[in-house]
Amino acid sequence: MRAKHLSKKINKFKKGVDEMLGDKSISHGMSRALRHLRKELLLYRNHVEGLERWTGSRGELNDLNVQIGGGAHLLDGYLNIDIVPPADLICDVREGLPLPNSCSNVVFSEHFLEHIDYPVSAKKFIFECHRILKRGGQLIIGVPDSELAVMSYVKRNKNFYKLAIRSWYSKRNCLKDFNTYIDLLNYHFRDQDDDKKYNPHFWAYDYEKIVDMMRRSGFVKIRRWKFDNRIANSKRKWGSIYVCGEK
Ligand SMILES: C[S@@+](CC[C@H](N)C(=O)[O-])C[C@H]1O[C@@H](n2cnc3c(N)ncnc32)[C@H](O)[C@@H]1O
Repeated sequence: MRAKHLSKKINKFKKGVDEMLGDKSISHGMSRALRHLRKELLLYRNHVEGLERWTGSRGELNDLNVQIGGGAHLLDGYLNIDIVPPADLICDVREGLPLPNSCSNVVFSEHFLEHIDYPVSAKKFIFECHRILKRGGQLIIGVPDSELAVMSYVKRNKNFYKLAIRSWYSKRNCLKDFNTYIDLLNYHFRDQDDDKKYNPHFWAYDYEKIVDMMRRSGFVKIRRWKFDNRIANSKRKWGSIYVCGEK
């Protein structure tokens, strides 16, 4: 009932935003701000409706394997959680995980953490993963390797530049804007913030940072995770770091 009411309010608000966005004379700055607002409105609606569906449908929650922020890369045998379909559970992970304590054996998440704000949401996310894991359970996090990007920038590494463009941007419309090495670094840190198709990056990570965050949330035996394409998305193999910690 509350979800229905909230969705109605969001839809009304979104209609106003859509109307303004439809006005061709609107300034570039205003259009960017409204696009961000529109996106948050849609995510909020997904969250509210997704949580209501979930609360009504969930059964026994034990012995789970959980994937967070998998997008279309769904994992069999996992509870796939994302803010957009086709996930099993649609919710905004910045608000926490609607799962009980110690219900999961493994939490896997790749190329998700950099899409939420640091410190508030990112720290909460790691803490929540720790809470839902059983003792001995594993958290595996993969992120774009920002150390590699920065080192390659400093060394003017042509090979990295070519591989990064081939792996990440070759099918996109932004190639004309890659003119110098710093452009690649900026895309690495922010992604295509100006394009509604892509989710901006909010924070950059390296191995040291993920280890520190995991440790502060109580994880132990933290180490690099060897890429395993039975779980991980093969397109992430190059240019990512994966870290694993145990509860
Ligand atoms: C770059 S995609 C990565 C998808 C997949 N893991 C992969 O490596 O191909 C980031 C994913 O995080 C999800 N996401 C972003 N913010 C989220 C949030 N606040 N709560 C839940 N999922 C979120 C997006 O919907 C998207 O599916």
